[in-house]
Amino acid sequence: MADLNGKVAIVTGASGGIGRAVALRLAQDGADVACFGQNRERLQETADAIAALGRRASVHPVDSRDPDAISASVGQVEKDAGRIDVLVNNAGITKDGLLIRMSVADWEDVLAVNLRSVFLFTKAAARAMMKQRSGSIVNVASIIGLIGNPGQSNYAASKAGIIGFTKSIAKELASRNVRANAIAPGFITTRMTDKLDGELQKKMLELIPLARYGSPEDVAATASFLAGADSTYITGQVIQVCGGMVM
Ligand SMILES: NC(=O)c1ccc[n+]([C@@H]2O[C@H](COP(=O)([O-])OP(=O)(O)OC[C@H]3O[C@@H](n4cnc5c(N)ncnc54)[C@H](O)[C@@H]3O)[C@@H](O)[C@H]2O)c1
Repeated sequence: MADLNGKVAIVTGASGGIGRAVALRLAQDGADVACFGQNRERLQETADAIAALGRRASVHPVDSRDPDAISASVGQVEKDAGRIDVLVNNAGITKDGLLIRMSVADWEDVLAVNLRSVFLFTKAAARAMMKQRSGSIVNVASIIGLIGNPGQSNYAASKAGIIGFTKSIAKELASRNVRANAIAPGFITTRMTDKLDGELQKKMLELIPLARYGSPEDVAATASFLAGADSTYITGQVIQVCGGMVM
């Protein structure tokens, strides 16, 4: 269990499956958490659960596609809390379709929510981390960014982009003791995967050596490890949380 006492964390997509589990895990480990996402009510539920753990939580219903809103509200977190120690870029969407039928709008939406927002949030939070000479950025990619998937060229490109981005900023920020790593989850049971048809879900299970789907808590445990002091010599890495599905 990481000791995150006194740390301030930002988690994007904190109303959803993995993001909510990450926000709660960081709070359990001692952090105060700024919860970013789309839906104010669901973010408030996450914040209430964090408050019940005795930690401070704030709610920021900000569209991950909106550069000005991201910059302003991350700045507000820094002003209110006095620091930013951890940023978990987790918000993401899928708009699947075969290449021939994929619209420009679906391509751009997925790239904007999944990849451009990682740039925007990281840029907004990095200044505080550089000033402090410490910080940990954790970007949620996907094994699809490593191996590709038919019907997910936009999603795969966004997740592969996150990995390249993570390695670049890891090199840029290392001299200020700011680390950046990516997590590549496999099949994690959330609303995102509930949308997949039953036959496909069964086929995926056969590909997982550990013979179970992952839980949001499996990803949250890795995020907490990467956020905390047990990983201070780890930067620029991609950690696969996929039950051995990709080796
Ligand atoms: N579930 C899986 O199997 C799996 C596998 C690999 C990677 N991932 C990644 O994990 C992350 C979380 O996914 P999840 O499975 O919890 O899905 P989810 O749909 O439960 O959560 C997605 C979150 O992103 C937020 N979001 C979406 N669009 C947004 C926007 N425009 N502005 C602000 N917030 C927005 C949603 O509000 C939600 O909180 C995503 O980046 C996803 O690609 C998931």
